[in-house]
Amino acid sequence: MPTFYVTTPIYYVNAAPHLGHAYTSIAADILTRHARIAGKEAFFLTGVDEHGEPVVLAAERDAVTPQQLVDLNAERFRELTRLLELSNDFFIRTTDAGHMTRVQEILQRVHDAGHTYRGIYEGWYCPRCADFKGDSEIGPDNSCPIHQIPLERESEDNWFFRLSTFQAPLERLFADRPDFVMPRHAYNEAHSFLSQGLQDVSLTRAKLSWGVPVPWQPDHVFYVWFDALLNYVTALGYAREGESLERFWPADFHLIGKDILKFHTIYWPALLMAAGLEPPRHVFVHGFLLSPLDGALEKMSKSRGNVLDPFAIIAEFGADALRHYLFREVTFGADGPVSLEGFRSRYDAELANEYGNLASRTLNMLERYSGGTVASVALDAELVRDFAGLAGRVDALLDRAEISAALEEIWQHVRRLNRYVEEHAPWRLARDEERTDELTRVLASLAEGLRVVTVALNPYMPAKTATLLDALGRPSLTAREYSVLGWGGPVGALAPLFPKTAR
Ligand code: MSP
Repeated sequence: MPTFYVTTPIYYVNAAPHLGHAYTSIAADILTRHARIAGKEAFFLTGVDEHGEPVVLAAERDAVTPQQLVDLNAERFRELTRLLELSNDFFIRTTDAGHMTRVQEILQRVHDAGHTYRGIYEGWYCPRCADFKGDSEIGPDNSCPIHQIPLERESEDNWFFRLSTFQAPLERLFADRPDFVMPRHAYNEAHSFLSQGLQDVSLTRAKLSWGVPVPWQPDHVFYVWFDALLNYVTALGYAREGESLERFWPADFHLIGKDILKFHTIYWPALLMAAGLEPPRHVFVHGFLLSPLDGALEKMSKSRGNVLDPFAIIAEFGADALRHYLFREVTFGADGPVSLEGFRSRYDAELANEYGNLASRTLNMLERYSGGTVASVALDAELVRDFAGLAGRVDALLDRAEISAALEEIWQHVRRLNRYVEEHAPWRLARDEERTDELTRVLASLAEGLRVVTVALNPYMPAKTATLLDALGRPSLTAREYSVLGWGGPVGALAPLFPKTAR
């Protein structure tokens, strides 16, 4: 069976999860569910990044130990994973013993192969990014361009990773594989960083003790980014009994936000090469959810205070509505604003009116005019033609992680079905006894169209689509079910899938 391995970043646990974290996680779930329907064996990994300075600082502020802080906050991320209906196969925590011992093994191998040396790091550091900034990455007055806080001058006795020796291998990787980083603008950004020439980077930190101890230098811990990146490999070794790296590595997709592009597109493939492992197939870099801050639209960020709370939206509207909204509103790969008002209008316009109403109307008409069954008859050729190729186009888009474009393609077919209802007005056909055959054909065609869009929407809205497929009496989810088949059988009742918001 072909395999599919997709990951999210592991999130920092020093603050509560917000909508930005949910965005990447939902994207990974959509790709996973789609891969499973397409008959692949998928492994979906998400989790939390528990080491590093921000955790130590947050714990000090709350007067708890780092371990207490991470135990508490990891649970909130895990809870979000559950509430978002994510079908992840494992939830990694970088304080897991299974992760920590494997980080030590792999980095010891890198050290033994001569990719490290001891030296003094001198330069600028952003504690929020946990990033040593090169000259091209420094904002005005030595500030962090991402967090807009002053950078700190660091001078530290570290072990270094010889990143600079991977200049040529990385250039080859980028030349050979134009889809290593997606979309294209992200590839260009990564490539331009590479073209400036790579500097060696700190691999260990002497000043911190909260982290994975360095086996050959036990008073140091590994720099948090190396510890964190390795999660994508370590998890496969202990996530479940009998699992092996060989089965799923290299990863098909690492999904990340553009804030962590350098680590995933430069450091990570270099580290993998140093450890004798293959680079991932694709790193897909998405944009930021934006939200108002002091009159402008800015990256949603806990430290800036302009976040939306996914827990509250799910409690009121359910996970499916949120999943739909995010990928309709913000094209995967680009930045885009989100808001509660925007959420409500899209919910009413698209979920309650377009899709929900289509579902209710179709089932009601089947009940009223067709004895509660879908007749097994030849379908309307025009509608069949309009649906031809839908499955293939959605597949092709999702193979490139174009999640919003695939959803748009499906949504055009939801709209097509609503037009079909208006064009054929079954309630008029029902008044004319001579048109019974036409009525039967229209209703069977409509039922089949609704079933096909619902199968295609399943990765986006797993719960509601399952309810609807049950009501249609055809719940199975396989690749075959993506195409117009024509089937016959009884249908059941359906409560409104997306009740209109009370406003
Ligand atoms: N711990 C590191 C990642 C290590 S991966 C080996 C980290 N954590 S984070 O908590 O800051 O999460 C960053 C990720 O969260 C982004 O890359 C993105 O996936 C997601 N997002 C956080 N804020 C976001 C937005 N405002 N918009 C979209 N995604 C956002 O970096």
